Amino acid sequence: MQHPDFLIDSQDKSLFIHNVNIAPLSKGITDDDLLYNASIAIENGDIVWLGKGKPPEQYSSFEQIDGSNQWLLPAFIDCHTHLVFAGSRAHEFEMRLTGKSYEEIANAGGGIVSTVRATREASEQELYELTTKRAFKWLAQGVATIEIKSGYGLDIESELKMLRVARRIGRDNAIDVATTFLGAHALPPEYKENPDAYIDLVCEEMLPAAAQEELVDAVDVFCESIGFDLAQTKRVLSKAKSLNLEVKAHVEQLSNLGGSELAAKLNALSVDHVEYLDEAGVKALALSGTVATLLPGAFYFLKETQKPPVQLLRQYNIPMAIATDFNPGSSPIASVQLMLNMACTFFALTPEEALLGVTKHAAQALGKEHSIGTIEVGKRAKLALWDIEHPRHLCYEFGISQPELMIV
Ligand code: NIG
Ligand code: FE
Repeated sequence: MQHPDFLIDSQDKSLFIHNVNIAPLSKGITDDDLLYNASIAIENGDIVWLGKGKPPEQYSSFEQIDGSNQWLLPAFIDCHTHLVFAGSRAHEFEMRLTGKSYEEIANAGGGIVSTVRATREASEQELYELTTKRAFKWLAQGVATIEIKSGYGLDIESELKMLRVARRIGRDNAIDVATTFLGAHALPPEYKENPDAYIDLVCEEMLPAAAQEELVDAVDVFCESIGFDLAQTKRVLSKAKSLNLEVKAHVEQLSNLGGSELAAKLNALSVDHVEYLDEAGVKALALSGTVATLLPGAFYFLKETQKPPVQLLRQYNIPMAIATDFNPGSSPIASVQLMLNMACTFFALTPEEALLGVTKHAAQALGKEHSIGTIEVGKRAKLALWDIEHPRHLCYEFGISQPELMIV
């Protein structure tokens, strides 16, 4: 498939963008943090210089790009998605509109397991084509890095199939993909009577096989009443650690099982959802430096009323990431900009916090803060140019702007 023509691949190129306003997002979006009327030099995909005023002579031979006085931001990072799946759950949406809850639908054999049926049936090529189409929608909105989880296969072959598709998407396209193994997403029907035997399978066969094929950057578990309990979560994440893999977890989404504390003790990169997180959990995150990833799309789509403890997260200096959680059940919403807006309107984040949530802190949630997420010398040049008045407009407006240009 052809890449959109607003994309510039900066590999093997020397680029110089002048007449541009830069929001590096290494700190925030106050006037002191922003560079007005600046320029930036890029060599072989790396940022080599940025600043205001007259640039060093050596960059005059670089290919020149006029930034048209627009705003350059780090390309967005969507650090939590379930982009690979087949089928739809529109009928469950209708059921929820007439009063059935997400848990009731899951307990009656629908929910995640119904997407598992459709995903198992789809061929690897079909899944690849479905996911490629989706990935292009992310690129078009200024996203250069996306995390993709497995978790709709729930048997060895189908989990490997999902992860191979995720890897291929990253290889074949201008978007970078971080893969996450989520074999412990739900209990497959064939293990209904014996959840621990399924965890044996995940730990002893699925995860080692996926790691062996180098398909796994991190390991996740759905720690919840309709997912897996603390002891099961601990087994999977500990196994991941023994294979030298990073860990993260879906925790405290519908209730508080103490998953955040457990994940923090295992030095998780992030804990995700966290609507029901309490102060003990927040303190544990502070000790381990774990990111709290907020998912306003799932909060909205499930009509949740419990909000994540943003004030406590601020008090303990926990970095907050924001992601779409794109999936067919709890967040079929493919828009990072809508997440920025919802993080502000629902969770009372400031536009500055929200923007850091899809750049710097999202990079941290993927363990990639040394190479992406901010505009600084030494980082990879993954950038988006926006025709906006000020960076805060990306949180304020929705459905208006798309990036004018992306450097990847
Ligand atoms: O992040 N919480 C668990 N997993 C997904 C939902 C998956 C689904 O419903 O298909 C989530 O919300
Ligand atoms: Fe999720």
